[in-house]
Amino acid sequence: MKIIKLNATNSTNSFLKEMILNQTVADFTVIVADFQTKGRGQMQSKWISEAGKNLMFSVFCTLKDLSVINQRYFNFTVSLSIIEALEDYNLPRLAIKWPNDILSEKKKICGILIENFLRGNHIKSSIVGVGLNVNQESFPADLPNASSIRNILKKEINLDDLLTHILEKLKMNIEILNEKKYDVLEERYLNTLYKKDVPSMFKDAQGNLFMGKIIGVSTEGKLQMELEDDVIKVFGIKEIVFL
Ligand code: BTN
Repeated sequence: MKIIKLNATNSTNSFLKEMILNQTVADFTVIVADFQTKGRGQMQSKWISEAGKNLMFSVFCTLKDLSVINQRYFNFTVSLSIIEALEDYNLPRLAIKWPNDILSEKKKICGILIENFLRGNHIKSSIVGVGLNVNQESFPADLPNASSIRNILKKEINLDDLLTHILEKLKMNIEILNEKKYDVLEERYLNTLYKKDVPSMFKDAQGNLFMGKIIGVSTEGKLQMELEDDVIKVFGIKEIVFL
């Protein structure tokens, strides 16, 4: 495993993508930065993180025989690896908010941005970008739901140790994925899924509020919900807001 540490970069995902386009990059090459000037989040959002306080890293993963129809299992693999690493730090009430946000005590402490490279109908490799709030103590007022490990556990955490631990978990779980033990990954993911089987209020893309219950993730990776009168409907990432 090769870990490249940078003081600053635009985005560790973009840096790694640039590397891949220009040279042969070994499996499990990791780019970690103290600061990002253009950190990227899901759905074109920005990822803002205080310099030197948190983990911002990207891992290059080559995958064995993963068909695009099984893409969701790679997403499960990544989220579960973070959860398992954080469990060992005794973070309370850990959950995965679909698709890939990591919550502790209902606060978002980690975001994940996965960028896949396809050949034909297979995912050949992927850049897994992780932004984990570790020692940051204050967050912008427009992010009321963000928190950090420091704020939850009330203690400072060593960034290098935590990174090593997450990478170990990721390696182990990618082995499970490569062995095609998809049901193992799915069961663990669904067991950790925030609001699974709990009737809750959501908002759709048109702004309408509705009651529903998360029951799973569809083949296309969409959120499966049971609505009132037992109707099952799937929602893409832009089609649903958790309230
Ligand atoms: C999200 O929750 O929207 C995903 C955030 C992902 C942020 C990480 S930080 C390291 C890597 N580099 C990026 O530009 N983004 C990811």
